[in-house]
Amino acid sequence: MVKTTVSLIKADIGSFPGHSRIHPQLLEKAQKMLSEAEGKVLTDSFVTHCGDDLELLMTHTKGVDSPEIHKLAWTVFTECAALAKKMKLYGAGQDILSDAFSGNVKGMGPGVAEMEFEERGSDPLLCFMADKTEPGAWNFYLYKVFADPFNTSGLVIDPGMHEGFIFEVHDVVEKRRIMFRTPEESYSLLVYIGAPSRYVVKHVFRKDGLIAASTSTQRLSLIAGKYVGKDDPVMMIRAQSGLPAVGEVIEPFATPIIVAGWMRGSHHGPFMPVGLCDANCTRFDGPPRVICLGFQVANGKLIGPVDMFDDVAFDRVRSRCNELADILRAHGPFEPHRLSLSEMEYTTLPGVEKELKHRWEKIPE
Ligand code: 13P
Ligand code: 13P
Ligand code: MG
Ligand code: MG
Repeated sequence: MVKTTVSLIKADIGSFPGHSRIHPQLLEKAQKMLSEAEGKVLTDSFVTHCGDDLELLMTHTKGVDSPEIHKLAWTVFTECAALAKKMKLYGAGQDILSDAFSGNVKGMGPGVAEMEFEERGSDPLLCFMADKTEPGAWNFYLYKVFADPFNTSGLVIDPGMHEGFIFEVHDVVEKRRIMFRTPEESYSLLVYIGAPSRYVVKHVFRKDGLIAASTSTQRLSLIAGKYVGKDDPVMMIRAQSGLPAVGEVIEPFATPIIVAGWMRGSHHGPFMPVGLCDANCTRFDGPPRVICLGFQVANGKLIGPVDMFDDVAFDRVRSRCNELADILRAHGPFEPHRLSLSEMEYTTLPGVEKELKHRWEKIPE
């Protein structure tokens, strides 16, 4: 049976005004380019944005890390960046960190989440896209969805997932990875993923090997060696029939949590789930936002999307996020609104410190 590959690849290639949202002309151009590739390299495609990040969702049969698919995404990003430059949009070409494409967009700026799978009788797929945060932001949600029976009752009452799941965790600083089996190693898993600036869940598998989730893990500051913008990650989760139900996958987003990446990539803020109509970063360039588009995958075709957070059931979490935003904003330049010193090393702070270094003198004993 032919396997289907879903590739969700994103980049910030310029926005307006400032870092708030993608310009409609760029969305149009990107969708046109992908539509032209359908029936050739692609089976289907869907283009959208979360804030100032351009999101390319593509289905095909070429497997993960396909040079052809990555090249297509790279061409869309570079051509859209050229248009953004012409329009003098803000941060045009922001996430294009290299001029030379060499077969894979990983390590070049764009974020990538991919999954190859044999389609089940019915295959619901949830695509999450975020702005003003880092890849580790997904850790909390992936744990809740795949390892917390108080969120996912299917872990208890569905024999198909009673055995639990396997989490593949990446250390983005030392570039190493480790697998944790849940529920038996849940506490060990939490030791690492509770520190989301460094440890990031890359994939989740069912114990029989079936792929259930995939995320983007690129850290722009680690690639560029300096602050160039926030990572703004993506995540895909398959649902139902021996996997968490669609409702179990989106349920943890009904609780507000605080993530890193707001204003200048240097502040903590509430992670607000919004419908596409609100996927624009405004207040203090945020607050950090997440959208979720739901599809059914049918022979590689994407049936959808359904705008999952465009729903009154998520009004309450949005209102709580606004309250948290007020509380954090009241701190101004103070921690814990501002990131901790060690994390600020990856923002624009080293530049300020350089100016002041020579003025420090030793305190006499
Ligand atoms: P339906 O009976 O509507 O298919 O729902 C089943 C289910 O598991 C919902 O969580
Ligand atoms: P982006 O990473 O979304 O471009 O945001 C950068 C920023 O500094 C916003 O304040
Ligand atoms: Mg930007
Ligand atoms: Mg962004």
